[in-house]
Amino acid sequence: MTAWTKKDLLGIKDLSVEELELILTTADSFKEVSARDIKLVPALRGKTVINFFYEPSTRTKMSFEVAAKRLSAATYGLSKSGSSLQKGETLIDTILNLEAMGPDLIILRHSAPGAPHLISKYTQAGVVNAGDGAHEHPTQALLDAYTMREKKGKIKGLNVSLIGDVAHSRVVRSNIFLLNKMGANVTVCGPATYLPKDIAGLGVKVTTKVDEAIEDADVIMMLRIQLERQGRKSLPSLREYFDFFGMTEKKLERSKPDAIIMHPGPMNRGVEIDSSVAEGPRSVILEQVTNGVAVRMAILYLLLGGTRNEDTN
Ligand code: CP
Repeated sequence: MTAWTKKDLLGIKDLSVEELELILTTADSFKEVSARDIKLVPALRGKTVINFFYEPSTRTKMSFEVAAKRLSAATYGLSKSGSSLQKGETLIDTILNLEAMGPDLIILRHSAPGAPHLISKYTQAGVVNAGDGAHEHPTQALLDAYTMREKKGKIKGLNVSLIGDVAHSRVVRSNIFLLNKMGANVTVCGPATYLPKDIAGLGVKVTTKVDEAIEDADVIMMLRIQLERQGRKSLPSLREYFDFFGMTEKKLERSKPDAIIMHPGPMNRGVEIDSSVAEGPRSVILEQVTNGVAVRMAILYLLLGGTRNEDTN
């Protein structure tokens, strides 16, 4: 089996198929740990993990925190608000100061693409990209892949449609890289203003028609409109967006009956997805969140060199 050798997890683009498979397989053991009454193993006892979130987060931040604690690591949180970043300290000085405290791993979410790659040069600790601007969100793509594989039994050959604000989504980019590497057929769909001109160059089918995107899909992933990343709105109105692109029970009548519905969260209900779909029988949205803990336990475990057979039993 492939051994993990990388210091950091910065993007899906850098990972081989064998490394992706290793993370997903390792997550299986940790899903089992998370199903126990006592959800605790000593695998990372004595390790120090810093959660540094420069942008808001609920799922990723808490999921890493829960994952690290279930592995017995000590976790500490830092956010922009309440830190000396607000007094003008630079990102590099912040990292040099954190480095002086001897962490084993720094998990960074930042609004600037490439920020995790930059800080990696200033710390001996491992670095995990928890979302960098509109660039990549590798751990989200990994938990999405884990959920697809769990629900559909495979990734190779699946038809996966990613629908919504493609232009501003780091989740889309990481999913495209991962799904292409693992042999899925990817379609992206959205209004023309949300489809980057060069997106077909990433090896995906492109359409502005939702019916076309969903008719053969095994997996339908709705994407959040990221108003915080748009200088001015690219849409006439959110109501019109919902009418054309929001996922409803009516639109789903055109899909395969066993197609699953995913969303990375946070959701804009009534904008990209109707509540009846988000909470409907085909939705696996909260299962994505559950799987996120197991996948992030696997990532922490591999990066911090735990010993699987002894520590997870
Ligand atoms: N999916 C995701 O990244 O959600 P958060 O922004 O809440 O972490």
